[in-house]
Amino acid sequence: MTVHIGAAPGQIAETVLLPGDPYRARWAAETYLENVELVNEVRGMLGFTGTWKGNRVTIHGSGMGMPSLSIYANELIKDYGAKTLIRIGSCGGMQETVKIRDVILAMTASSLSTPSAGLFRELNFAPCADFGLLAAAHVAATAKGTPVHAGGIYSSDVFYDERDDLNAQLTRHGVLGVEMEAAELYNLAHRHGCRALAVLTVSDHLQTGEALPSEDREKSFGDMVEIALEAAFA
Ligand code: HPA
Repeated sequence: MTVHIGAAPGQIAETVLLPGDPYRARWAAETYLENVELVNEVRGMLGFTGTWKGNRVTIHGSGMGMPSLSIYANELIKDYGAKTLIRIGSCGGMQETVKIRDVILAMTASSLSTPSAGLFRELNFAPCADFGLLAAAHVAATAKGTPVHAGGIYSSDVFYDERDDLNAQLTRHGVLGVEMEAAELYNLAHRHGCRALAVLTVSDHLQTGEALPSEDREKSFGDMVEIALEAAFA
């Protein structure tokens, strides 16, 4: 048991999928895993451990934003021995070539700041995904016929962004989408010798204003879970 996770030692698998939403963690565990056990519910942040094709997996909510994700990822890695951490979440599209429902695999994540900024000080550390996970996720998405893009994303500190000029520069520099967690997940994975990847579905689009209809969200989320599981155990 840690400050924020009630699981007993050994109840967390080495492979952890991290959706932002705890209810999504429950849906994914009940839909894709066998022998599912609730391992955390402290503060309503649900975590489940089960098996997928005989492999042990934990699916645990991260909450929204890098400070929240950082708390859970730190404890999962340092206290429970997590080795492979895959964020599954949504993002806003930032390029015309990126459409609603497409999947983005984040090779790297730009940010204004992360919870690691105090440690890095003047260094602009460039966090990147684990290449093996990224390559396997690309194969899995392509095999499913899911349109998939690999490239840079932006991990923002704000959902209600009022910096249009910054979004314009990011778009100009080829950034594919915006979300709020991946950069810190990658920082922590580098620091502790883990593998990390963010698999993101485009749920809204900054240029077109389109949004994924709510009836499509479950199917898109399910595709991400499958891509993440296949990548983790490829
Ligand atoms: N901004 C930040 N995070 C997001 C967005 C967005 O537009 N869409 C989904 N997550």
